[in-house]
Amino acid sequence: MLCRATKRVISIRGRSIIRPIKDSALHMKKAEFEDRLERLHELGNELSLAKSVEGLCRSAVRLGRKRLGFDRLSTWFVDQADKDFIIGSFGVDEKGRVRQETGERVAIDEDPAMRQIRLNRARSVLRHGVPLRDDSGAVVGRGSHIIAAIWNGKEVIGYICTDNLLRKRPLAGEDREIAEFFASTFGHLYSLKKAEESLRAAYNKLEGVQEQLIQSAKAEVVGTLASGVAHEVKNPLAIMLQGIDYLSRNTEKRNEKAAMTLKRMRGAVKKANGIINGLLDFSVFAELKLTTRDLSSVIKSSLVLVKHEIDRNRIKITEDFGGELPPVRIDRGRIEQVLVNVFLNAIDQMPKGGILTIRTYAVHPPKNRGTVVAEIKDTGPGIAKNILDRVFDPFFTTRRSSGGTGLGLTIAKNIMDRHGGSIKIENVTRRGAKVTLKFKSTIEGRR
Ligand SMILES: Nc1ncnc2c1ncn2[C@@H]1O[C@H](COP(=O)(O)OP(=O)(O)OP(=O)(O)O)[C@@H](O)[C@H]1O
Ligand SMILES: [Mg+2]
Repeated sequence: MLCRATKRVISIRGRSIIRPIKDSALHMKKAEFEDRLERLHELGNELSLAKSVEGLCRSAVRLGRKRLGFDRLSTWFVDQADKDFIIGSFGVDEKGRVRQETGERVAIDEDPAMRQIRLNRARSVLRHGVPLRDDSGAVVGRGSHIIAAIWNGKEVIGYICTDNLLRKRPLAGEDREIAEFFASTFGHLYSLKKAEESLRAAYNKLEGVQEQLIQSAKAEVVGTLASGVAHEVKNPLAIMLQGIDYLSRNTEKRNEKAAMTLKRMRGAVKKANGIINGLLDFSVFAELKLTTRDLSSVIKSSLVLVKHEIDRNRIKITEDFGGELPPVRIDRGRIEQVLVNVFLNAIDQMPKGGILTIRTYAVHPPKNRGTVVAEIKDTGPGIAKNILDRVFDPFFTTRRSSGGTGLGLTIAKNIMDRHGGSIKIENVTRRGAKVTLKFKSTIEGRR
């Protein structure tokens, strides 16, 4: 590669004469080139540690300048939606600062050098005395310019551009070769990071799906159990309740011990009955009675149902109902059940008072096709990390001693799933937990 530069053309009194480059100068150039190649190798190793595609592009521009001695440097990628265009990534501004240039989009054919590369006539092009432009396309000076193709091993996926606007050092053939190597190293790393990112995204999605599958498998097990056992248990319980009522009527009022025992028995039977009813909610036969509703008004009516508990614990309520929401198709009774479960959980965590914040809003396209969201936030202690992924499990409770059955969130999730919605619970940064309920709206939101 370097032997091309062993001779140079000089002009004496208008005549061109070819003279060999002196050995020592040649040696220096060669050593310098080899040094840059060595630095390029190290740079490749460093760039391979980038955590994301964006991080890689930013570091490539920053370190390309610092380690390889490039002046202004920028990276562009072929627009995959329309391959006649390229989109900016990161670049160096007219003051030498690295900036994001993702908003830039240019037609490839506007630049003759890029067109030449695109037609497979070159891997890089070096030009002298050309207009140098800023990111908006305005001419900011004249000088040398190199464009090198970013390859992924199969095709050109973008371009690395560098010029000498800032330092004015003329660009030579060696710079072009370094730019070519750099673009090729960068191209391979870019493809690798892209693949890594999509693999990570696919993995996360898969994990989510797996989690959902586990949850619905659990719900199915509970459902099967419910329909099998509940009816069997429900009848004996009804008989017991009738018996307790009969004995209560026929026991002398003065017999306080007997009255107390019967009262406890009634409480216990009612609790068992409550659990059975909860289990029956999983039954496929428990069909939803869907009507079109305004979610905020359903929340308000559910709050009334827990007003007593709220007042007893001296809890303050902050409401932020986001204007007029698109209507939702829900089984009002079931959604009230979900909300009451969530409210009671929050209230339970604030026995000495706190704030219950309820917020509703609509998420519009293009982000989400008509979703209505309700967030319920408390100022309790939050959920311990080690139980966070178990709170939706059937019968999981940390309140067993105070009467918790651990079915509240399981049932809430089952109801939300059957509405085609979702329920999520997480800790909030400072204090407390937040439950997010998402519903599909019946009409698409406006942009
Ligand atoms: N807002 C919250 N803050 C902290 N922990 C919570 C909150 N909501 C739920 N949890 C935790 O999740 C567990 C499961 O909740 P879930 O509603 O399913 O059952 P439970 O409230 O214990 O009993 P019940 O069947 O009576 O509802 C709770 O025991 C509690 O540990
Ligand atoms: Mg509960």
